Amino acid sequence: MAADVTRQGVSAIDTPSNTIRFILDGERYELANVDPTRTVLQFLREDLGRKGTKEGCAEGDCGACTVVLLELNAEGDDVTLRPVNSCIQFLPTLDGKELLTVESLAREDGLHPVQQAMVDHHGSQCGFCTPGFVMSLFTLYKTNPKPTRREIDDALAGNLCRCTGYRPIVAAAEAMYDAETDTDWLRQPAAQDGRFKPPAVRVDALRDLQREASLQFAAAGRSFFAPLTADELAGLFANHPEATLLAGGTDIGLWVTKQHRELETVIYTGRVAELNESRVTASHIEIGAAVTLADAMEVIVANYPGLYELFWRFASPPIRNAGTLGGNIANGSPIGDSMPALMVLGSSLVLRRGRSRREVSLDDFYLDYQVKDLRAAEFVETVRIPVLSDDVIVGSHKLSKRFDQDISAVCNAYRLELDGETVTAFRMACGGMAATVRRAHNCEAAVTGKPWNEETIDAACKAFARDFEPISDMRASAGYRLRAAQNLLRRFYLESRGELEESVYAYGRS
Ligand SMILES: Cc1cc2nc3c(=O)[nH]c(=O)nc-3n(C[C@H](O)[C@H](O)[C@H](O)COP(=O)(O)OP(=O)(O)OC[C@H]3O[C@@H](n4cnc5c(N)ncnc54)[C@H](O)[C@@H]3O)c2cc1C
Ligand code: FES
Ligand code: FES
Repeated sequence: MAADVTRQGVSAIDTPSNTIRFILDGERYELANVDPTRTVLQFLREDLGRKGTKEGCAEGDCGACTVVLLELNAEGDDVTLRPVNSCIQFLPTLDGKELLTVESLAREDGLHPVQQAMVDHHGSQCGFCTPGFVMSLFTLYKTNPKPTRREIDDALAGNLCRCTGYRPIVAAAEAMYDAETDTDWLRQPAAQDGRFKPPAVRVDALRDLQREASLQFAAAGRSFFAPLTADELAGLFANHPEATLLAGGTDIGLWVTKQHRELETVIYTGRVAELNESRVTASHIEIGAAVTLADAMEVIVANYPGLYELFWRFASPPIRNAGTLGGNIANGSPIGDSMPALMVLGSSLVLRRGRSRREVSLDDFYLDYQVKDLRAAEFVETVRIPVLSDDVIVGSHKLSKRFDQDISAVCNAYRLELDGETVTAFRMACGGMAATVRRAHNCEAAVTGKPWNEETIDAACKAFARDFEPISDMRASAGYRLRAAQNLLRRFYLESRGELEESVYAYGRS
């Protein structure tokens, strides 16, 4: 069902809470009667006729639908600029934000420097992927004044091209900074410190969009709620226990676009203040369930650098900008990538239902395939990750067919504590090896208290075979999964002794 669209200019107007409002090309849009599960891509192409943004896969994989969102931080003094996949973003989640599409970039007097570089370096053939590449490169252009090759590759990790090949596109990325620019803020490259600084008028326009009351409406036979506080969320969920809790929508979006599921009541966590906060105390890193993977990754990796590659290879920037840590945990896939690492760290979840809270160890949260220790109307409020001492060695390996944007065949995480050459504590958890992510208890027992040497690792690999009976599927056979997980443990042993590079990526971390 198409939305009723009103363009208002950027001045503030009195808006009822059942109308979503956002900015596009400097104009304020007010939408009433929005189907809660209509996607941003459908709105752009079908309601506005802005057909620059393309639909390829409709599942967040190809990047043809990439758009950019500007969002005000909680303090109201900083704005982020981030690409997302419009094919799986539901339209009401635009509320309070500014949207930029490929049409936002070109001017009558010429192409944007990013677009011009793509032309000059032959970065496009059929052109279907090109608008998505342009929006990812535009983000890089505005946020990184001098990207390394690895940073260019990462910026493009969510964009697939079937005909041009990536070399000319990377050449365009390297050349886009060379253009002469005028004073148009969209055309100016990132400041030297890489901080994104939009003009004050854009920040003010975003401030005008912020709400003091929650957004609630019904349209197309569906209801949508966007509460602002955890108390409000708890109350709403208690009244609507059948509701779908929507966070980043990178799993739920596909329920709608691929499985054609009808979601009658949707409660969006993206506006709940407490769920969007993280803090580090002396004992814990506490991450609100609705903190994006991109933001969660920064704080986790700052404390545990050994998890850098795991998070860097988690999906792609557009997925990490929308998807949340809480969504990954609550979705509970056996191949969810954050959970093995969170498990070895000894993480727990604060679960909330109505006014009551309980804390559950992540080890105990997954009961069986897609069965979690989560009651009706209960939700994940906070993820609590212990802060361990600096001498604890933490690492992780993800094995998938593609380096970027791919689902794990196997994902291992390890935590090692040594007293000299003797292992005082060892934990290992695995994804892709069973119906749920879980610890390798036999393997752990075979290592704890033993010397950290090859003999112990041989014994650990034998014990590991008693921990799991993996399945065969199109991603990997059971035998392959078992052997690969054992070999990755051997790799961790070599890495811990400094005998192997910690990154498998040819360009390393710089
Ligand atoms: C192209 C693509 C690539 C991907 N790559 C990876 C990858 O590399 N590794 C990986 O692990 N995953 C990957 N995913 C899966 C997905 O991105 C993650 O699982 C993500 O973390 C989900 O978070 P979300 O906020 O988008 O969840 P949503 O889709 O909003 O929700 C997922 C589930 O969690 C529930 N939920 C959300 N928040 C809460 C809460 N606070 N309390 C209780 N329940 C809640 C929802 O009701 C729903 O059941 C990928 C997905 C796509 C589309
Ligand atoms: S259409 Fe492929 S990622 Fe959206
Ligand atoms: S130019 Fe054809 S898919 Fe990229």
